[in-house]
Amino acid sequence: MKKVLLILLFISIGCQNNSKRSDSLSNKGVGPIINVILEDKVNISMANSGEKLFNQLCTSCHMINEDYIGPAMSGILDRRSPEWIMNMILNPIKMLEEDPIAIELLEKYDFEYMYNQNLLEEEAREILEYFRILD
Ligand code: HEC
Repeated sequence: MKKVLLILLFISIGCQNNSKRSDSLSNKGVGPIINVILEDKVNISMANSGEKLFNQLCTSCHMINEDYIGPAMSGILDRRSPEWIMNMILNPIKMLEEDPIAIELLEKYDFEYMYNQNLLEEEAREILEYFRILD
């Protein structure tokens, strides 16, 4: 009997982890971005523009492979939806107030607020394209 309970416990823990992961990718965040379509092939010229913007505006707080004032950007598309990422760039204050993942990050990163840099939607999209070529 104990064994059966233990097995059931493991199964339910396994399911929770799975649903948490798919939740984080199905969460589109709070903000102007409702739907983003990623083409199969990365648009290199957009990614290059995005890299420049990232180096100008984001590297005071973010590194690619290591946590800094904010999280490392490497692998961001494996853990967040494209819409969520763009909403975080375009609408960080609201995200940090209302979005459960952003609120969790705020606590984890010592209540350091990512601020709104008033990027254009197109610029946020270029940064997203740059994130696609990170390891
Ligand atoms: C003042 C420091 C600061 C600047 C500048 C900044 N961020 Fe952030 N960012 C943070 C912090 C800190 C977090 C974690 C949430 C929080 O505490 O605000 C975060 C979270 C994020 C996340 C979510 C990361 C994850 O693991 O889910 C993304 C994506 C992001 N930032 C992208 C950017 C981009 C792109 C720029 C430049 C346009 C930028 N940030 C500029 C501090 C900053």
